[in-house]
Amino acid sequence: MQIVTSIVTMQRLAKRWQRQGARIGLVPTMGYLHEGHLSLVRQARQGVGPRGRVVVSIYVNPTQFGPKEDFSCYPRDLNHDLKLCRAADVNVVFAPADEEMYPGRTCSRRCKSAEGPRFGKRSYSTYVVEEQLSRVMDGVSRPGHFRGVTTVVAKLFNIVLPDLAVFGAKDFQQAMIIQRMVADLNFPVNIIVAPTVREPDGVAMSSRNKYLVGILRPQAVVLHQSIQRVKAAVRKSSKPVPDDRLRTLVRNTIKSAPAARLDYVEFFDPKTLSAVTKVSRGTHLALAVFVGPTRLIDNGRL
Ligand code: PAJ
Repeated sequence: MQIVTSIVTMQRLAKRWQRQGARIGLVPTMGYLHEGHLSLVRQARQGVGPRGRVVVSIYVNPTQFGPKEDFSCYPRDLNHDLKLCRAADVNVVFAPADEEMYPGRTCSRRCKSAEGPRFGKRSYSTYVVEEQLSRVMDGVSRPGHFRGVTTVVAKLFNIVLPDLAVFGAKDFQQAMIIQRMVADLNFPVNIIVAPTVREPDGVAMSSRNKYLVGILRPQAVVLHQSIQRVKAAVRKSSKPVPDDRLRTLVRNTIKSAPAARLDYVEFFDPKTLSAVTKVSRGTHLALAVFVGPTRLIDNGRL
């Protein structure tokens, strides 16, 4: 397994693979890898075949974090990640530094001391914005988040030149936005969305679960519990259920955990992400919940 930190080196390698006729599969991550990430790696391997190449990118992307979010304390353990990737038959880990991805980027809000944009010398000023699917749910709760995600993923596609890229259904809105970006900007990349991997108690695996210490961890089950209860209510009913009733069910489930606070719960059409008020089988539910200071998200088809 090769570890690449330079963009030019990664692009040269990818072009060589293309000349050799090898298919390239990319799994973009922010590291602190868990079984959810590894399930995407397996999907990528399956997609490119034994002679293809699987690239995992490990990069905590600063442009997708808000000024008050957890960028600086986001969990990192590159050595452990590399071990897991080696064991998972990954060909290359692409792990660039911030200055490599966003040379000279100045951040208007976070770094008040920055001297302003650098012209002449290298500076960074180009972003990719999806303008429809990004306007709901996490797009409202985390302004600018998806602009950072689409920008870094577009960059990764131009650096790794993948034939396919795998994303998790755990971040359903993100996967839909990437699919839209790929269609709108004509990236020749096939997007695969892989199912959410869960802990035995139903909690969706996430690097941020590391923050859930002591009595907080068991309270994280309220997200999955909410989805299961709403699903049962929808499936039991012979006609569509008003969203208000289901919202109350979710609120009451969240209340059972003293450290949990609901950020949002939405019912929507999975193709358009537009809100649904009469909820039936096939409608999607997504929710964001603070458990202590940690914000968790989950979603599911009802
Ligand atoms: P990260 O949170 O590290 O997740 C990387 C990929 O793993 C995403 O596609 C995410 O949906 C998937 N994933 C995370 N937990 C999962 C689980 N329990 N089951 C299945 N898949 C899971 O998402 C990001 O990083 C970033 O926004 C990124 C796309 C890398 C851009 O910076």
